[in-house]
This record gives sequence, C-alpha cells and structure tokens, in this order.
Amino acid sequence: MAKKNLKVCLGVSAIFFIIVSIITIALIFTVFKPTDPNIVVHIAPYNFLSPDIAPNITLPLVVTMGNPNFGSFKFNNGFSYILYRETIVGIVPIGSHLVPPRSALNVSTHANFMVGKLIENPNFLIQDLPGMKFTLVSKAELPGKVIILKLIKVKSMVTNLCEISVNMTSNHVESNCQSKLKMFT
Ligand SMILES: *[C@@H]1O[C@H](CO)[C@@H](O)[C@H](O)[C@H]1NC(C)=O
Ligand SMILES: *[C@@H]1O[C@H](CO)[C@@H](O)[C@H](O)[C@H]1NC(C)=O
Ligand SMILES: *[C@@H]1O[C@H](CO)[C@@H](O)[C@H](O)[C@H]1NC(C)=O
Repeated sequence: MAKKNLKVCLGVSAIFFIIVSIITIALIFTVFKPTDPNIVVHIAPYNFLSPDIAPNITLPLVVTMGNPNFGSFKFNNGFSYILYRETIVGIVPIGSHLVPPRSALNVSTHANFMVGKLIENPNFLIQDLPGMKFTLVSKAELPGKVIILKLIKVKSMVTNLCEISVNMTSNHVESNCQSKLKMFT
C-alpha cells in the first residue's frame, strides 16, 4: 500500500515537473524572448608609435555591457582576446558582473597588450604603417546566466566580436561590435 502511494506520488511529481518545465521554457522563448546583449570594447586613444613604448603594456579599456532584456544577465569571469591578423596580441580579463534588465554597465578593465608582437608583424610594417591605420579584432566567449523574474536561471553563452580600427595619425580608435546569445535549456 505504502509502495503504491509512493509510486503514485513520484508519478504525479514527475508530471508536475515536466509541466512546469514546459511552461518555463515556453515563457522564456515567448514572453521574455531574450535578445543579444550589446557589448562594446572601447580603447582610449593611444599612441602606439611612441618611441618609449614597452613591448608589453597595460592598455586601459572599458567594456560596455548592455542588456536590452527584461531579464538580468549574469556574466561569469571570462576573457577577451585581441588579435592582429590572426595573432593574439592582447588578453583582456573580464570579471563577473550582473547586468540588470534594460540597462548597461561600463566595466573598466585593461588589456595585457603586446605592442612588440604587433609592431614586429611584417604586415604591420609593410601595409599598415604607411597608411597610419590598422585594425584589431577582439573575440570573447562569456559564459553566464539569463535570470528571469529572479527565479528562472538559464545557462547561456555570449560571443562577442569587435572590429577595432586605430588611426595612428589622430590616435582615434573606433569599435564595431556584434554579440550573439546562446541559451542552454
Ligand atoms: C610579454 O608578454 C608575453 C606574454 O605574456 C611574454 O611571453 C613575453 O615574454 C613578454 N615580453 C617581455 C619583454 O616582457
Ligand atoms: C559607457 O561609456 C561610454 C563610452 O565612454 C559612454 O558613451 C556611455 O554613455 C557609458 N554608459 C554608461 C551606462 O555609463
Ligand atoms: C585619421 O586621422 C586624421 C587626422 O584626424 C584624418 O585626417 C584621417 O582622415 C584619418 N584617417 C582615416 C583613415 O580615418
């Protein structure tokens, strides 16, 4: 008798769990429909051709983490890699951050930037230096969670890709970024 009751109880729990899961997933993809965050890497104007520049520098930068969603975004610790023509020239640590719904955070961080590797690259010397302009690419994979109603947490991965062009005449830096959100349900 007791065993039978237990079975019924487990069965009802399982069905209840499945229904709640389906409703949760339906809600996530209909009502809340999380869209891609808006992440932009800003490098301040910097003179990469200064005669007294070291081969390795700490380049300050700001990462804007914009969340257009009705849910919060929790980003875990991650890294962004800065590449010059397929060679890694910089590593940017990005700490753990919670971005509230429909808001943006400016996160101050830095790149461990290998100017030496950039300037040594033959492409830099031959193609970019005469035009006084070069392009970097930053790539990040940021694991985290989408949090809806402070209750439902869905594991996610945000990939971010920026094209960063540097004008060495004006030292002006311009970033053009795209992010993609992937959720694991
Ligand atoms: C610059 O940093 C890179 C990577 O961290 C390291 O391998 C290299 O030895 C450093 N070079 C100098 C001159 O400090
Ligand atoms: C973040 O910084 C950028 C660039 O400096 C600025 O345009 C933007 O208004 C800032 N946003 C917030 C939320 O502070
Ligand atoms: C770089 O900056 C200089 C000085 O402000 C400007 O004259 C030039 O047009 C810029 N170059 C590019 C490719 O934007």
